[in-house]
Amino acid sequence: MTTGTRQLDTAELEQRVKGMYQEVALEPEREFHFETGRPLAERLGYPADELDRIPAAAIESYAGVGYFLDLAAIEPGEAVLDLGSGSGTDSFLAALAAGSTGRVVGVDMTDEQLAKARRLPVDGGLGNVDFRVGYIERPPVEPESFDCVISNGVVNLSPDKPAVFAAAARALRPGGRLVLADIVTEAQLPEGVTCDASLWAACIGGAMQRDAYRAAIESAGFDVEGWRENTEYRFVSERADNATQKYGVTSVSLLARRL
Ligand SMILES: C[S@@+](CC[C@H](N)C(=O)[O-])C[C@H]1O[C@@H](n2cnc3c(N)ncnc32)[C@H](O)[C@@H]1O
Repeated sequence: MTTGTRQLDTAELEQRVKGMYQEVALEPEREFHFETGRPLAERLGYPADELDRIPAAAIESYAGVGYFLDLAAIEPGEAVLDLGSGSGTDSFLAALAAGSTGRVVGVDMTDEQLAKARRLPVDGGLGNVDFRVGYIERPPVEPESFDCVISNGVVNLSPDKPAVFAAAARALRPGGRLVLADIVTEAQLPEGVTCDASLWAACIGGAMQRDAYRAAIESAGFDVEGWRENTEYRFVSERADNATQKYGVTSVSLLARRL
């Protein structure tokens, strides 16, 4: 354990994050620090009729933190990259919007999430999704081959957020959109929280201060065009909730355009 030390152990963090999201894939009915599943998705604003059109098993392991597909406004024929695709809820919804002439690539590092997303029955226009194993800091995709990069509840888990934003910029064509939901904070988190791999894996410890987060996106070559608070998102465990109150931990959805 590295809790309370000055350095986050990134190898331990990766194992914790994988362990946590393996459970979200395999035992979605369990209680986590955060909510999961269809009730959460509906409360965050996902239209019920769209959720009805994708596999229910994907939604049961949904662990996103906000709705953003209205901001993404994906058009038929577009190519979409989902960074940290999990069990596939946003990837499948993006595939519906992109249609048979479009395509979606989902990238995730947790085998159980990928296996679940890959074995879901794909019919009704969902065949254009390809789930790949990989890291969001260096996704296995061609440069400048996507119109839109989406990501939900994932960037906060990365110990190298500038690398994630740079990877998104590389994957996008000029003028392409980065649309994501993520956890940010009002106040910079203290080391006791940022070096706690278990709070990090619960989507709190890795949350960046909101102005620094926005600046990191801009430094990667984006113009931030839209930013909104997801006031419906909340953490469930007492420990997580305490950190949330104390440091102003919130969920935001945003749209940024590659310059
Ligand atoms: C909070 S879940 C969100 C999953 C999905 N976006 C959703 O909304 O249900 C975070 C996901 O990101 C993946 N992940 C976390 N860090 C990652 C990294 N550095 N590279 C690739 N995947 C990562 C985890 O395996 C997990 O599936």
